Amino acid sequence: MMEQDMQEILFTREQLSARIKEIAAQISEDYRGKAPVVIGILRGSFIFMADLVRELDIPDMTLDFMSASSYGSGTVSSGLVDIKLDTSEPITGKDVILVEDILDTGNTLSRLVAELQKRNPASIRLCVMLDKPERRVKPIQADYTGFQIPDGFVVGCGLDYDQKYRQLEYIGILKPEIYE
Ligand code: PRP
Repeated sequence: MMEQDMQEILFTREQLSARIKEIAAQISEDYRGKAPVVIGILRGSFIFMADLVRELDIPDMTLDFMSASSYGSGTVSSGLVDIKLDTSEPITGKDVILVEDILDTGNTLSRLVAELQKRNPASIRLCVMLDKPERRVKPIQADYTGFQIPDGFVVGCGLDYDQKYRQLEYIGILKPEIYE
C-alpha cells in the first residue's frame, strides 16, 4: 500500500513488533511493582503506544495522552511547540513514561518534559520508537529507543507527511519528489 511513494522500507511490521517486544520487556522489568502512567503524545505515537502497552507486563499502569504540535505541514521543525491537549489525570507523584513516535530536533519532548517537571512527578522517562540523533537541537535523550535512524523523511506507523501515511504498517523513507 502506497509503496510506490517510498524510496526505501526501513522497518517492516515484523521488525517493529520484535523490537517493541524487547523494549517492553525492559520497561516491564524496570517498573516492576510500580504504577506508572504511560502518556502517549498524539498524534504520531498512537500506533507505537498501542503496540507497546499491549506488550507491557505492568498490571497497575494507567494510560493517558497529550498532544503537541511543532511541524505544521512542512518538513522543517519550527521550534515552536504548542500543547494542544493535556493529560486527563494529574501526574503529581507519579512515575511518568512519555511515549513518542520520533525524537528529532528534541523541541517537542524538551518542551513537554519541562512542562511536566513543574507538576512534580516522581520520575519521567522517555520511550521513543525512532531517534534521529544527528538532527538534535535540544540536549535530550530517550531512555528507551526502538531504532536510531539517519536523517530522511520517514512515514508510517503513526508518522505522517502532511497528515498522510500514518496508517502504514511499515516505516518507510518518502521519495523526495513527494515533498519537494
Ligand atoms: C512530530 C512527532 C514528534 C515531533 C518530533 O509531531 O510526532 O512529536 O514531531 O520532532 P521534534 O523532536 O523535532 O520536536 P508533529 O508535531 O508532527 O505532530 P503529530 O504527532 O500530530 O504528527
